[in-house]
Amino acid sequence: MMRKYVVFLFLLILGCGKTEAPFPKVSVTHPKTFQQLGDSVTTTTQTALVRTLLKHLEDGGPTKAAVFCTVNAIPITDSLATHFQVQVRRISDKNRNPKNKADENDLAVMEQWSKSLQKGGNAQPLLREDSGQYLYFKPIFLGMPTCLQCHGNPETDINPEVRALLAEKYPADQATGYKVGDLRGAWKITMSKRRAL
Ligand code: HEC
Repeated sequence: MMRKYVVFLFLLILGCGKTEAPFPKVSVTHPKTFQQLGDSVTTTTQTALVRTLLKHLEDGGPTKAAVFCTVNAIPITDSLATHFQVQVRRISDKNRNPKNKADENDLAVMEQWSKSLQKGGNAQPLLREDSGQYLYFKPIFLGMPTCLQCHGNPETDINPEVRALLAEKYPADQATGYKVGDLRGAWKITMSKRRAL
């Protein structure tokens, strides 16, 4: 019985081998594969978000762009997550959307980066193993002055219209008071170890 099953599986694999693309050369269980996957997911998602944000700022100004972020930031990350078959989140120790609140592990990672930065070091992406899955973290910095329009000093950087909108949509908003170059949060990618690449 067992033997028949093994033969069947073997035929199935052979069968798939003929029609599908060849198996990837890298081992699917090797952490490096997941590190690379995390790198490409975050790069693609970040590019998609920033490009769309800049377009909306140019077309409609900061208030319209803020409305856009309010409605679309999570759906954009979710759609790319589906595409890559992973979970994609942006988390922060000073989150705007309550859904982006960092948990204890996330905070430990951010703390590690902050300490390294304080000592003049850098903040590198890192991979953590967590019961059957890999967690990939990559720092998000407040990389350009544009970000200040919605995350800077509420008195001097954020216009009153945007301020009112943020107060209405995010009554517990903590994501202001940043300066260019600050660590703003992290990408957190959750990948099942059993994913078929
Ligand atoms: C036009 C306003 C606007 C600009 C400009 C803007 N953001 Fe945001 N940002 C938002 C809004 C609104 C949210 C909450 C989105 C949501 O509800 O998911 C947000 C959320 C975030 C989050 C997720 C964590 C959290 O606090 O909820 C990060 C990280 C972030 N922004 C980084 C940036 C960076 C980096 C830039 C510059 C490239 C930037 N933002 C520019 C409005 C803006």
